[in-house]
Amino acid sequence: MDHFLYRDGALFAEDVPVAEISAEVGTPFYCYSTATLERHFRLFDEALEGMEHLVCYAMKAASNQAILKTLAALGAGMDVVSGGEYARAIAAGVPGDRIVFSGVGKTDGEIRAALSGGIRQFNVESEPEMAVINQVAVELGVVAPITVRVNPDVDAKTHAKIATGKSENKFGIPISRAREVYAHAASLPGLKVIGIDVHIGSQLTQLEPFRQAYQKVAELTEVLRADGHDIHRLDLGGGLGIPYTRSNDAPPLPTEYGALIKDTLGHLGCEIEIEPGRLIAGNAGIMVSKVIYVKEGEGRAFMIVDGAMNDLIRPAMYEAHHDIIPVAEALPGEEKQTYDIVGPICESGDTFAKERTMEPVSAGDLIAFRSAGAYGAVMASEYNSRPLIPEVLVNGDQFAVIRRRPTLDEMINRDTIPEWL
Ligand code: LLP
Repeated sequence: MDHFLYRDGALFAEDVPVAEISAEVGTPFYCYSTATLERHFRLFDEALEGMEHLVCYAMKAASNQAILKTLAALGAGMDVVSGGEYARAIAAGVPGDRIVFSGVGKTDGEIRAALSGGIRQFNVESEPEMAVINQVAVELGVVAPITVRVNPDVDAKTHAKIATGKSENKFGIPISRAREVYAHAASLPGLKVIGIDVHIGSQLTQLEPFRQAYQKVAELTEVLRADGHDIHRLDLGGGLGIPYTRSNDAPPLPTEYGALIKDTLGHLGCEIEIEPGRLIAGNAGIMVSKVIYVKEGEGRAFMIVDGAMNDLIRPAMYEAHHDIIPVAEALPGEEKQTYDIVGPICESGDTFAKERTMEPVSAGDLIAFRSAGAYGAVMASEYNSRPLIPEVLVNGDQFAVIRRRPTLDEMINRDTIPEWL
């Protein structure tokens, strides 16, 4: 459920007409709903009620500080994967003891920054990384709390580019080597082993892969405890999928996911962390774009819009589907049309949808890409010298620009010209 609905023939973001925002900020732009963000966070928080837990929002999904502040105000922690994300979370006022640091390639600089600024735990992905965290911690005279990310060799049954829990993926250490790696970690003076981490992939639409992974984590917890490790925190990663269309079978709900966690891990008495990103932000955001031309091609009509693959790369990168709807609701009885919906960028991959049947549109009309709140703005680039598009946050009947569109001069003036030119 989200808060982008038609009212009196026009698309609203909560209580604000989307066309009104467009008139003020211009197209294309991203628009997020506070109520949807809050609702989705609470669903997870409530699903884990009864267990000691922290929902650490995977801020890679949408990392504007206004979004982070909205969630942090509800008690969210953050899952960060770079020094940049760590700095952004701190800048948004998230306390270090609510930030977990994931990722396969943490540099010593990033580790130092996090240990100096405060960190809840590092999710360690390899032995070389463990050695560096230990070394930096010893240098700083602190002890780094760690979990080790285990790779459970489970098929997440999702798109190959976003599956992470198979042995061929670069993530974590093989679960078969866990005892050895934990024994090594326990011998290092700069580390304190506190738990286990696992994350098997993104946009999972079934619970079964989670069940398999979490059962393996449960077994490992008992084995490591028997080895003498104080395993009291389990970080279960993110990955629960969202409905990208209204017609397909909806993925399991956070309540069902929470019940599965209790079922597989509840008996261990561990504190639970989860790292959802997409489910919190995905359907809390749309990208609004304007139709520039409708062009009749051979046997097909091209809808050319002012948003492009540099603004929303998911269709080009993962063949992802996003529902596309007109901002002015179609009149009853209006016949649907079929379009190839494309951006202005000079490559054929700049296609949002092929043969999409939808309400008819004309040049100048506004359209909205639904489910664009996660992995939308954060994956944008300036390809074709197109400035990054603005982000807007709606809250009830108010809205604010939370990142403005840079001017062309601002974009161009980041280049520096060497003196010999
Ligand atoms: N935790 C870790 C360690 C992760 O690697 C990820 C996502 C998450 C949590 C959050 O997963 P989520 O709840 O959002 O599924 N750009 C791709 C998605 C990449 C996901 C990467 N890792 C897309 O647009 O589909």
